[in-house]
Amino acid sequence: MYYPEELVEEVRLKNDIVDVISGYVKLQKKGSSHFGLCPFHNEKSPSFSVSRGKQMYYCFGCGAGGNVFTFLMEYENYSFVEALKVLADRAGVDLPEMEYSREAKEKAELRTVLLEINKLAAKYFYAQLKSEQGRTAYTYLRDRKLSDATITAFGLGYSNKYSNDLYRYLKTKGYPDEMILKAGLISADEKHGAYDKFWNRVMFPIMDANNRVIGFGGRVMGDGKPKYLNSPETPVFDKSRNLYGLHRARTSRKPYFLICEGYMDVIALHQAGFTNAVASLGTALTAGHAALIKRYVNEVYLTYDSDDAGTRAALRAVPILKSAGITAKVIRMEPYKDPDEFIKNLGAEAFEERIRQAGNGFLFSLRMLERDYDMESPEGRTAFMRETAGRLAEFEEDIERSNYIEAVAKEYRVNPEELKKLVVKTAVSAGLAKPAERPKATMNREKGREDGILKSQRILLTWLIEDENIFRQIEKVIGPEDFLEPLYHTVAELLYQQHKAGAMNPAQIINHFTDEDEHRRAAELFHTKLPELSTAQEKEKALRETLIRIKQNSLDERAGRLDPADIEGLKRLMEDKRALQRMKELHISIN
Ligand code: CTP
Ligand code: MN
Repeated sequence: MYYPEELVEEVRLKNDIVDVISGYVKLQKKGSSHFGLCPFHNEKSPSFSVSRGKQMYYCFGCGAGGNVFTFLMEYENYSFVEALKVLADRAGVDLPEMEYSREAKEKAELRTVLLEINKLAAKYFYAQLKSEQGRTAYTYLRDRKLSDATITAFGLGYSNKYSNDLYRYLKTKGYPDEMILKAGLISADEKHGAYDKFWNRVMFPIMDANNRVIGFGGRVMGDGKPKYLNSPETPVFDKSRNLYGLHRARTSRKPYFLICEGYMDVIALHQAGFTNAVASLGTALTAGHAALIKRYVNEVYLTYDSDDAGTRAALRAVPILKSAGITAKVIRMEPYKDPDEFIKNLGAEAFEERIRQAGNGFLFSLRMLERDYDMESPEGRTAFMRETAGRLAEFEEDIERSNYIEAVAKEYRVNPEELKKLVVKTAVSAGLAKPAERPKATMNREKGREDGILKSQRILLTWLIEDENIFRQIEKVIGPEDFLEPLYHTVAELLYQQHKAGAMNPAQIINHFTDEDEHRRAAELFHTKLPELSTAQEKEKALRETLIRIKQNSLDERAGRLDPADIEGLKRLMEDKRALQRMKELHISIN
């Protein structure tokens, strides 16, 4: 990003956050803040607050927060530059043409052209469906119980029987063969020239979260093969980072997504009122999908096909979701094949009931595991419990592990204490039997320690912004150099500069980061949940401990890097160590 920071700041200052967010959320003034229902999670009483003074928003319920740019990036799923453009436009600020490198420019132009071509193609397919030629396709969709409104909402279409008419149409719009080829809409060979990839199929345009057509799926109307033909991956179509139906599901305001396997499942679910349904695009669920999902919800219900392949897919998806911090439940479709058929036969209410009955993902995987054991015999059950104990041992967090131990004990009617013993025993013997896995455990421990220190740094940054009085008292003992993580370090430096200049402005600091990920991480820094402490003494103690922890870590790091011949450095380090000792008696007055 090459826009000067002053210009970005001008755009921010000219877009009052309360005005902008009011366009999306109904806000009411209460005290110095405006409150409304959080657009990022489902809630009944308002915990979403917007501060005109700070030009920041924060949700006390789900922790979403940031400045006016962050809001648009989160709500509209814009990139930083997209948010900048919209806000500049809104405030009448002229943005200069960006200074791209030639390569970046070509890439951006290619993407723009491919999106244009896809959009034209989608419109073309839609028009075909609505024309006389598309009658069979239209009837096919109506027979599958899709309403006109649904067909329009999902932009369904038809690719007709002529072998190259989409190609000819796109040529009349002036697009070169090379581009149409790159969009994945035609194939070309020397003998036949260019011909359409999709031929006599019902077309499902695939949209990204911003409603841009990025690819297509096409279904035969009968038993031909392949049943579905999909666009190849292109510069705008990355299957492992997009979900079918996300453009609608993301505004469904439900706290979870329904994840299914097929296009038709998503559409049938939306039509039945389950507007939070999405599907991975004919591929297994990836970590990329999970990260995408995590931007919107913390919980999903897997509603995969009830056949073996669907069951296996669900089993594979559960741990992927779990490592992204998403809880998964599994909905069973029996006796039907998939959500589409389930709804067609039993209706929305029955599906609602299945959602209520959905089982926890881990317990579901155990139920599948049962199939491998003779659960009627004591030997079989014991062997099953051993395997289960091994899986329980893999939960890293104590609370989570004991919760699951309890749940499993209840489900399989075994004594929870005995199960617990078995889990510990399994963990220990697994550790002994497989020494190769030990480094992983220490790595996890180290990771835990590191997370702890990062958290201390986050807490301190939030504290400093909230209370200048604290800032004044501690600036002599902790400086930006003590924040070791690069992003935190930059934030701390900017914050210390602002503090010195006498005006703290976290909303501005956030905009220093124009990479979407960094921008979000910086925004989070200013909303770290502070420990809940009531008395001033408690606060002082917690603050002091946080300071010591950060300082200690920073000194350890410096000591590790120190050249033993560097006498000056050694001296300074010793001084700092003494300073650290003194910090233990440091009095900080809290008001
Ligand atoms: N799929 C695909 N290519 C295929 C078959 C399937 O890409 N040859 C993908 C499609 O996204 C499809 C999903 O996998 O929607 C699930 O496939 P399947 O269960 O076979 O189809 P359904 O979604 O049930 O489709 P329909 O109801 O139209 O038969
Ligand atoms: Mn189906």
